[in-house]
Amino acid sequence: MSSHPIVHLGSLRNAEAFKRHLSDHDIAIPCDDEIATGSGSPLGQPLRSNGITIGNRFAIHPMEGWDGTADGRPTDLTLRRWANFGRSGAKLIWGGEAVAVCHDGRANPNQLLIGPHALDDLSRLRETLVAEHKKTTDSIDGLLIGLQLTHSGRYSRPNSDRGEPRILYHHPFLDRRLGLSSDYPVLSDGDVREIIEAFHKAARLAERMEFDFVDVKHCHGYLGHEFLSAHTRGGDYGGSFENRTRFLREVVQGIRTYAPALKIGVRLSALDIVPFRPDPASSTPGKPGAGVPEPFEDLLPYRWGFGVNQANPVESDLAEPVRFLTLLGELGIRLVNISAGSPYYNPHVQRPALFPPSDGYLPPEDPLVGVARQMAATRTLKQQFPDLVIVGTAYTYLQEFLPNVAQAAIREGWADSIGLGRMVLSYPEMPWHVLQGRTLERKRICRTFSDCTTAPRNGLPSGCYPLDGHYKNSEPAEQLKQIKNRYRKEQAQ
Ligand SMILES: Cc1cc2nc3c(=O)[nH]c(=O)nc-3n(C[C@H](O)[C@H](O)[C@H](O)COP(=O)(O)O)c2cc1C
Ligand code: SF4
Repeated sequence: MSSHPIVHLGSLRNAEAFKRHLSDHDIAIPCDDEIATGSGSPLGQPLRSNGITIGNRFAIHPMEGWDGTADGRPTDLTLRRWANFGRSGAKLIWGGEAVAVCHDGRANPNQLLIGPHALDDLSRLRETLVAEHKKTTDSIDGLLIGLQLTHSGRYSRPNSDRGEPRILYHHPFLDRRLGLSSDYPVLSDGDVREIIEAFHKAARLAERMEFDFVDVKHCHGYLGHEFLSAHTRGGDYGGSFENRTRFLREVVQGIRTYAPALKIGVRLSALDIVPFRPDPASSTPGKPGAGVPEPFEDLLPYRWGFGVNQANPVESDLAEPVRFLTLLGELGIRLVNISAGSPYYNPHVQRPALFPPSDGYLPPEDPLVGVARQMAATRTLKQQFPDLVIVGTAYTYLQEFLPNVAQAAIREGWADSIGLGRMVLSYPEMPWHVLQGRTLERKRICRTFSDCTTAPRNGLPSGCYPLDGHYKNSEPAEQLKQIKNRYRKEQAQ
């Protein structure tokens, strides 16, 4: 547990009080007192690097909504979200949301699925975003839009709530959580080659739809990320670093051949630690305690992670991520989005939050420590790779101090671009308001209630149920209320 009580950031009066809080608890997060606007604004500065131009320093992270049609096309809810991404004023749209390259690799039966059948509808997402961006900011100069391509691997649920995992190796903790027996089949090298071809076809379609780049997703426990930790796998795609990165290299090679106009980006869980679970000692039925690491003592050196310290897997180790970014540079990939961990096995690392999703665990640390962890890793990587365009993650928990921290991080070179996730679900215009020097609308600031995670875990579309008026009094909002009441009742028993 945290060594100090967690303070609600909304109760801190100003940036000075926030800085005092950080300093009192030795949390290394930079923070500016005043937000600059106009030509003096660090966040408003365009970024020019190796032929890439991005009009300002805000990025929108990919966020799927579990709201596509059964055959993977967007619905009005999906279009609305992409319109909001455009309205944010951010000039880098990192992927929009995870789009599966094949049906078997969908993370849920409502995930978008790229294919000739969906081309017109997926194109409309980009067009809607561009139109909304122009309406808000009056210019589409420096707007760079990517599409995130994914295969969900271990977390595939293409047909229903039931998982249909596609795994690369057996994992001592994650297999057990998914109920996989020791003889559950792993993807063969032939299966992997078919998936690589699906990425090539998807990229060709993304190029036809005029996306500027595709993100070959390597984060959050999905397939691309699982390759990087496939130390115990034999064959062409496991074991050595060279084999564990063969998937990336073969995907990239095909994209260069079949979709030469596309730029390529990679979103990476650059740091990780062992999976966490609710502390059995303080959990009661229906009431999870604080998160604790899975017992790893008999599994050292720990060989089932990437960016994890093998001798002490509650700590991260950036040695291999540094090798990975070196490889990206050698492959001519300049766009890198740094994330961490996984929402499935250590959500406090991936998405620092005060209120966990209903099936999660209580925060094992002050979420600010989680923010600082991701910021520090991103800073280290930025220092070592000045030629890469590096997007930072996990800023939403900073709430009203997000602009102050974002500005300081850009000014001091901790990252090139500040990526926003949850904040644009609750308050899509926040980046634009910051750039315009407008007072923030405090009632719309994300307070990390995690309903946007609890909803899809219970089969409902994702969105900001507490703060986005669109969901108020809607049928899914009523259903979510009942689900949360049920959890609460279980907790009371
Ligand atoms: C509802 C929801 C959906 C998400 N979907 C994706 C996704 O499709 N692809 C991805 O790389 N990350 C996804 N993420 C993670 C976010 O992009 C981001 O990394 C995370 O929310 C932390 O950033 P934040 O602190 O600004 O929210 C999702 C997060 C949320 C809350
Ligand atoms: S539901 Fe809304 S307030 Fe809660 S974490 Fe998601 S975006 Fe933030």
